[in-house]
This record gives sequence, C-alpha cells and structure tokens, in this order.
Amino acid sequence: MNKTVAVPPQEIKENQLKDRVYLVTGATGGLGKATSLALAKTGATVILTGRNESKLDVLYDDIEAAGYPTPAIIPFDLEQIDEDNYKQLIHSIYNEFKRLDGLVHAACHIGVIGPIGSQESSEWQKVQQVNVNAAALLSKVCLPLLQQSEHASITFISDSSARQSKAYWGAYGVSKVSIESLAVMLADELEGTAVVSNVFIPGACELPIRKKTHPGVENYQPNSTHEAAESLVKVVLSPESGVCYSHSVNG
Ligand SMILES: NC(=O)c1ccc[n+]([C@@H]2O[C@H](COP(=O)([O-])OP(=O)(O)OC[C@H]3O[C@@H](n4cnc5c(N)ncnc54)[C@H](OP(=O)(O)O)[C@@H]3O)[C@@H](O)[C@H]2O)c1
Repeated sequence: MNKTVAVPPQEIKENQLKDRVYLVTGATGGLGKATSLALAKTGATVILTGRNESKLDVLYDDIEAAGYPTPAIIPFDLEQIDEDNYKQLIHSIYNEFKRLDGLVHAACHIGVIGPIGSQESSEWQKVQQVNVNAAALLSKVCLPLLQQSEHASITFISDSSARQSKAYWGAYGVSKVSIESLAVMLADELEGTAVVSNVFIPGACELPIRKKTHPGVENYQPNSTHEAAESLVKVVLSPESGVCYSHSVNG
C-alpha cells in the first residue's frame, strides 16, 4: 500500500483548463460523471466514455446546458482486450482534437465482495480486465499523445478500504492494489517528462460503489461526490507524480 497524502488545497481558476482535452472512462458512473462536469466547469473539453450511450447522451446534454465546452462521446467497452480497438480510440481522439491532456480512469467493475473461495473465475477476470488491464492498455496507447502536452496527467482511482489487503475484498481489492502499483511504476518511468501519474482515493463519499461496499451507512457529507470530483480536478492539475492523494480523511 502506498503512503497517502491529502489533496493539497489549491485554488482552481475559472477556465484554467480552457482548450485542454481530457478523457474520462466510466463517465456515466458516480465519480466519472461528477468529474466530467467538474473538468468541463473548469473549461476543459471532456471526452466521455462508457458503455451506456443513453446515459452518455444525458451527461452530454447536462454539460451543454450548463454552458461548458461541448464534450465528445466515444462509447467503449473496457472488457475488450484487442489492443487495436484501444489504438482506434486514440486515433479518433487525435483526428478530432489533435491533443490529449489527461486521462481519468473512473470506470470500475466491483465484482463480488466476499471470500476468495466464493470468487467466480469469470467475474474475477472481468474485474481485473476493467479495473487493471484496460486501464494499463488505455494508458499505454494514450501516452504518445499525452507526451505532446505541456502538462498531462493520468489519474487512477483507488479505494480507501479495498486497498488494505484485508479479508473479503476479493478481486476488487486485488485490482485496487494493482492499480496503485501501476500508477507509481508509470510515474517512475515517466520521470522528467510532461506526464504525471497519480492515484486518487475518494474515501467516504456518497458514490454507488461505496453504497455497495458499505451498505447501511448513510451519514455522508452533503455534496460529498461533488466535492470529491473538485478534489480530483486538483489532482489532475498536480505537478507531482507517483503520489496517492486522498480526498476524505474519514476513510
Ligand atoms: N472508499 C473509497 O475510497 C471509494 C468509494 C467509492 C468509490 N471508489 C472508487 O471510485 C471509483 C468510481 O466509483 P463509482 O461509485 O463512481 O462507480 P460506479 O458509479 O459504479 O461507476 C462505474 C463506471 O464504470 C463503468 N464501467 C463498468 N464496466 C465497464 C466496462 N466494461 N466498460 C466501460 N465502462 C465500464 C460504468 O459504466 P456503465 O454505466 O456502462 O455500467 C460506470 O460508468 C471506483 O474506482 C471506486 O473503486 C472509492
């Protein structure tokens, strides 16, 4: 487990991300949607990816209705393993925007929280594919374009509880430890380049996955998802690399 630090207080200026382009996976999920809106609010053009086109359309409309820069939609299933499909995705981004300034890996498949003995092989593999393998492959194919930016970031999302290698966190827990290792390894490889690689941990926020991992807990701070997304934008802008940033001190 990597040492974590609080997200540093940092003022985000209006339109600070104007003309910058960010790809958000899992844009239809709790954190992905809030992050897409927070990035767009800061002036960024956001490429929304996910599997559910009607949910992506609703988010597109929300961003347009708010008067933020027009986003783009690229439906993409992260269960795909063919590298050519990932390369095609980045070619589409290059053709449309000619740049990419960041990648936020907000997509996640939780699988089964329970003992290792109860983990179905197919479900285990799906969790590792969506949470780890697809994130690694997508980062790989995005790197050449990210490296052309003056400051680019890759942000991986971990989980305050699942990362602790405790009993019953199953494939999801293993995927979170793996993703943190990947983020730090990538940061080491990218040292001295314009691309940073960091981890963001939302903590105790009112997110769909949190409600599954901690059923019955209802004392979330109001606006906790929105605040986590604003915090994530600060991580996207961080000049530091190889850091695990935690939003919530409550775990
Ligand atoms: N305690 C903590 O620190 C904590 C608490 C909560 C969450 N988190 C982390 O925060 C992140 C987001 O959580 P959340 O609650 O926002 O998740 P969520 O609402 O369940 O959203 C997951 C997203 O991933 C997408 N996705 C799943 N499988 C996919 C696939 N095969 N291809 C493409 N997209 C796929 C979903 O798309 P569809 O709409 O198509 O299903 C959805 O947009 C996760 O990494 C989670 O571990 C951490």
